[in-house]
Amino acid sequence: MKVGFIGWRGMVGSVLMQRMREENDFVHIPEAHFFTTSNVGGTAPDFGQANKTLLDANNIAELAKMDIIVTCQGGDYTKAVHEPLRAGGWSGYWIDAASALRMKDNAIIVLDPVNRNVIDAGLKNGIKDYIGGNCTVSLMLMALGGLFQSGLVEWATSMTYQAASGAGAKNMRELISGMGAVHSQVAAELTDPASAILAIDRKVSDFLRSEDYPKANFGVPLAGSLIPWIDADLGNGQSKEEWKGGVETNKILGANRPVIVDGLCVRIGAMRCHSQAITLKLKKDLPLAEIEQTIAGANEWTKVVPNTKEATIHELTPAAVTGTLATPVGRIRKLEMGGEYISAFTVGDQLLWGAAEPIRRMLNIVLG
Ligand code: HSE
Repeated sequence: MKVGFIGWRGMVGSVLMQRMREENDFVHIPEAHFFTTSNVGGTAPDFGQANKTLLDANNIAELAKMDIIVTCQGGDYTKAVHEPLRAGGWSGYWIDAASALRMKDNAIIVLDPVNRNVIDAGLKNGIKDYIGGNCTVSLMLMALGGLFQSGLVEWATSMTYQAASGAGAKNMRELISGMGAVHSQVAAELTDPASAILAIDRKVSDFLRSEDYPKANFGVPLAGSLIPWIDADLGNGQSKEEWKGGVETNKILGANRPVIVDGLCVRIGAMRCHSQAITLKLKKDLPLAEIEQTIAGANEWTKVVPNTKEATIHELTPAAVTGTLATPVGRIRKLEMGGEYISAFTVGDQLLWGAAEPIRRMLNIVLG
C-alpha cells in the first residue's frame, strides 16, 4: 500500500501529521510518500518512511502510483486533480479534508464514530472517495450523535459560535492582532483605575469602526465584535455554512428519512473551538436522565457536563476544550416549549474532530 500525502504542511495537514505521530500511525503505512505543490525534489518530513524526496502534487502520473491519497491541500487542488486522476483510470482511495467532493453521490462523508456503518457499506460497494465533513456538522454529530443515531430527533436548530481557525490560519493571526490593537488603544487608561469606562469604551468603539483596525482577512472586525455570516451567500437568506448543516448531517447519517437541521452560523473571537447552542425537538417526551445517557453513551469522546453554573463555566468553553479530542455537551434541559424540546450546548476543537481526526481514522480504516 502506497499512501501519498498532500497538504501536510498547512494548518489542517499539520494537525493531521501531529495526530499521526502521536498515535504512531506511520508504523502501519507500508510506503508513505509526501507531495508538494511548491518544493518538488525538496526534502520530505521524516516520519521514518523510505522516500525522503518530495514528489510533484500536480503530476497525475506520479499521483496515480499511490493506492491511497490523503489530501488537506484544499478544494481548489481537489477540483484540479481529482477528475483527471479518475479519468485516467486511477481507482485508489481518495481521502480528503476539503468540501469540494462532499455532496457527490459517489463520495461518503467520514465520521466513523457516528457513521461507521455507512463507511463500511461504502467500502463494500466499491466507493473510493471519502471526504471529511464540515467542522460544525462533525462536531455537532460527535456530541449529539447518540440522539440522531437513535432516531429520536424530529428537528434540530443550531446557533453556532465559530472560531477563527475555520476561516484559516491568517484569520487566526488577524484575530490576535485585533485583540492586541484594541488593547493598545486604551492601554494607558487601563492602568489608571480612575479612568472613565465610557471614555475607554468610546475609544475602543471608534477604533473598531476605523480603517486602522486590522481586518484584511475577515473584512470587518472580529475581536471586540462578531460576524453573523459564514461562507457564501446562497441568495435565499441562508449562508452556505447553514445549508451544510442540513444536507451534510443527513448524508453522514445515511438517513432515508431526513431530519431537518437549520440554524444560524456566527463567527466569534475564539481560536480553534467551535461552540453551538442547539435546540432539539425530540419525537418523544423522554426523561432527562435517559436523554443524557443516550448522548454520553454514543462514543468515548462525548460526555455530559452537569447543567450547573460551576461545571458549565469550567468545562464547557473553548478555553477548556481547545487542543483536546473531547466533545462535551452541557446545558441540557427541557425548554418551556414542552417536554420534547431540549436545549444543549457543545464545544469541540475544529481542527481535531472538525477536520484532521476523521481523516486520520479513515486512513486507518482503509489500511485495515
Ligand atoms: N466552514 C467552517 C468555518 C470551517 O468557517 O468555520 C470548516 O468546515
